[in-house]
This record gives sequence, C-alpha cells and structure tokens, in this order.
Amino acid sequence: MTEQTLTREDALASKGFRHACHIMLYGDSSAKLFENIPIKHIVLMQMRFDGLLGFPGGLVNTSKETLEAGLSREIQEEVGVAIDVGVVDHVSSCSSSSCPRLITHFYVKKMTEAELKDIERAAVCSASDHGLEVLGMVRVPLYFLKKGGGLPYFLSHSFVSNSREQLLSGLQSCSLLSQEELEEAVRQAEQMRR
Ligand code: GTP
Ligand code: MN
Ligand code: MN
Ligand code: MN
Ligand code: MN
Ligand code: MN
Repeated sequence: MTEQTLTREDALASKGFRHACHIMLYGDSSAKLFENIPIKHIVLMQMRFDGLLGFPGGLVNTSKETLEAGLSREIQEEVGVAIDVGVVDHVSSCSSSSCPRLITHFYVKKMTEAELKDIERAAVCSASDHGLEVLGMVRVPLYFLKKGGGLPYFLSHSFVSNSREQLLSGLQSCSLLSQEELEEAVRQAEQMRR
C-alpha cells in the first residue's frame, strides 16, 4: 500500500478517512550517561499495549473536536498531563501505509527538562491509561555505543504504523541529530534486523 504526504488542510478535506494524531515531546538535557556520555536530548515515546513502540496520541473524532483538541485529550488520557497543542506544532500528515482509510498527523513540541520529568512522573501516577493502553513512557537513546548500542538498537525494535519514520523525521526536523548520524543509525539497525 502506498503512503502519501498531505497538508493538514488537504488531509482534513479528504472524505472517508479516520484521523489519528500523535506527538513527539522533546527537549534538551545536560545529563550524562555513565557520567561521560551526553544524552543531549530527551525524546519521549511509549510502549503500547500491543508491544509496539509509538508516540502518545490517538484517534480523533473530527466531527466533534479539532485535531489539536483531540490530541490534547489523548495526551491527558495516556500521559496524564494537560498540554496545549496548537496548529503551530503540526509537522506532517500522511495516509497510513499499514492502515487503510487512516490519516496520521504528526506533531512535535519542545519542553524544558523539568517539564519532561514531570510528564514522566504523571505518565505513571496520573494517566488513566497507564498499565492499560500504555505500558510506560520510554526515552529514545540518541547516542551510539559499541556494537550498535543506543539509537541503532532502539531503531531495530518494532514500531506501530509509520511511527519509526515519524521519529526519524522528528529527529531531523528538530535538529536533534545530524543527517550523517541518522543515516549511520539506520544503517546499523538494518544490519541487526538481518
Ligand atoms: P483507542 O483509545 O483504543 O481507540 O486508541 P487510541 O485512540 O489511543 O489510538 P492509537 O494511539 O492506537 O492510534 C490509532 C491508530 O494509529 C493505531 O491503530 C495505529 O495504526 C496508528 N498509530 C498508533 N500510534 C501511532 C504513532 O505513534 N504514529 C503513527 N503514525 N501511527 C500511530
Ligand atoms: Mn548502573
Ligand atoms: Mn494512543
Ligand atoms: Mn488513547
Ligand atoms: Mn482513543
Ligand atoms: Mn482509549
């Protein structure tokens, strides 16, 4: 099945499609792994009920709520925090390759390290979906260790729908890694999957 990129407006005008909105919450961090490897940024994903990695978010009923209001509702359910998502946070819309008649909208929002830590706490303590639809938030390792450790191993896991592509595009558009680093991580991950 082919995948097609659309503008937010064209996506909303498409008849007979369901809409899903997901978001990459991220921010800078000065923390160091083992006291010497900078983690550089915090990027949040989640382990879903089905064992796949994905972003917080979900299906939006566009006859009852805007894409951004629906995404805020899903964030409240899955992460347990109120985050005001706006049209400015939208980065791409795509007809899903794995799910026919579904358009997936992707958003990114930069937060402070303190806000991200609050989100991680809330995801466990306040989110109604914790332990049900969502088994836990995970940080994406953005560094490279020996033998594919770090980002390459992370990318070799299984992701829902096109969330792996959304992650790579988010890391690129937010300049969290260089193009060379991203290509190297994808190359190493490919070798692992063989
Ligand atoms: P329910 O409340 O049980 O309906 O789930 P939900 O509203 O939270 O929906 P979900 O997050 O599972 O997203 C709906 C559909 O979008 C899924 O069936 C997947 O096909 C797809 N999907 C889920 N997570 C992601 C993601 O992070 N990125 C993309 N592109 N698609 C996703
Ligand atoms: Mn230790
Ligand atoms: Mn969801
Ligand atoms: Mn949900
Ligand atoms: Mn839902
Ligand atoms: Mn639900």
